[in-house]
Amino acid sequence: MHPDLRSLPKAELHLHIEGTLEPELAFALAERGGIRLPFADIADLRRHYDFTDLQSFLDLYYSCMAVLRTEQDFTDLALAYFERADADGIRHVEMFCDPQVHESNGVTLDTVLDGLLAAFRIASERWGITGGLIVCIVRDEPVASAAALIEELAPRAGEVLGIGLDSAEVGYPPSLFTEVFARARELGLHRVAHAGEEAPPAYIWEALRLLDVERVDHGIRAVDEPELVRHLAERRVPLTVCPLSNVRLRAVADLSSHPIRALVDAGVVVTVNSDDPAYFGGYIADNYAALAAAGFTLDELADLAANSIDASFADEARKTELR
Ligand code: HPA
Ligand code: ZN
Repeated sequence: MHPDLRSLPKAELHLHIEGTLEPELAFALAERGGIRLPFADIADLRRHYDFTDLQSFLDLYYSCMAVLRTEQDFTDLALAYFERADADGIRHVEMFCDPQVHESNGVTLDTVLDGLLAAFRIASERWGITGGLIVCIVRDEPVASAAALIEELAPRAGEVLGIGLDSAEVGYPPSLFTEVFARARELGLHRVAHAGEEAPPAYIWEALRLLDVERVDHGIRAVDEPELVRHLAERRVPLTVCPLSNVRLRAVADLSSHPIRALVDAGVVVTVNSDDPAYFGGYIADNYAALAAAGFTLDELADLAANSIDASFADEARKTELR
């Protein structure tokens, strides 16, 4: 990465903390917790990183999450990420987590929140990094499970930034979660959703109109509908785009044909993010570097970094400090 770009203040707005679990840490946590991973060793685990689509990744991602059991596990995972984030010039992080998956492993919501919030406090002291948590609804779990999660989260709503919607997309449209998102809004939570990663523009329209989202995660399939692209640009709805993720999960053929170019040129507020960096071959600096190699100029990349600050849920004072 060009040194000027590394030093630019950036926010990471699309980052699944469980997707930062490097194989080395997965095996270390498995040993500490007495858990058996279904892989012989680190090299064997890495051999499974050849994904064909979103679902093929999610199967591996959820299976590795079994090593995360204690508050300390979550703190250690997040601190390993923050250290890399700091090195890449990230000053603010809005971090996704998937409590429903942890609950199915016998881990409580409080354990997840306490472990991750402790890491945010340390990151603030150690690196001056700000941000917070976005609790994601796993959309291929029953809607009743999502509703129960929101009620469980309600007493701690003031400790997190918002809610999101992730996991297997096609067949699980945003409309399923209209009431859950309305309840989140009532609790004063920000709202974002994965939409248009693999599914068509209709999913993005639903996220905007039914879930009242403030940002769209991925959103790249908007490019298939000019009216939607115009709408996103006019309303300044930010997209959290994850270039290397899209290539690795074959949502796009390669970076040179990635819709990010068309979206930027159409005036959409695009941000660059790493999604699940341990699995997709790169952290945020690698994503910026890949865009540079695909023809983005330094000025354009600086604009994308500025967008990430503007599109964050940081307060105005913090945004001014970061610009
Ligand atoms: N898409 C949907 N769900 C996810 C992703 C993603 O890219 N990463 C982790 N959960
Ligand atoms: Zn994602």
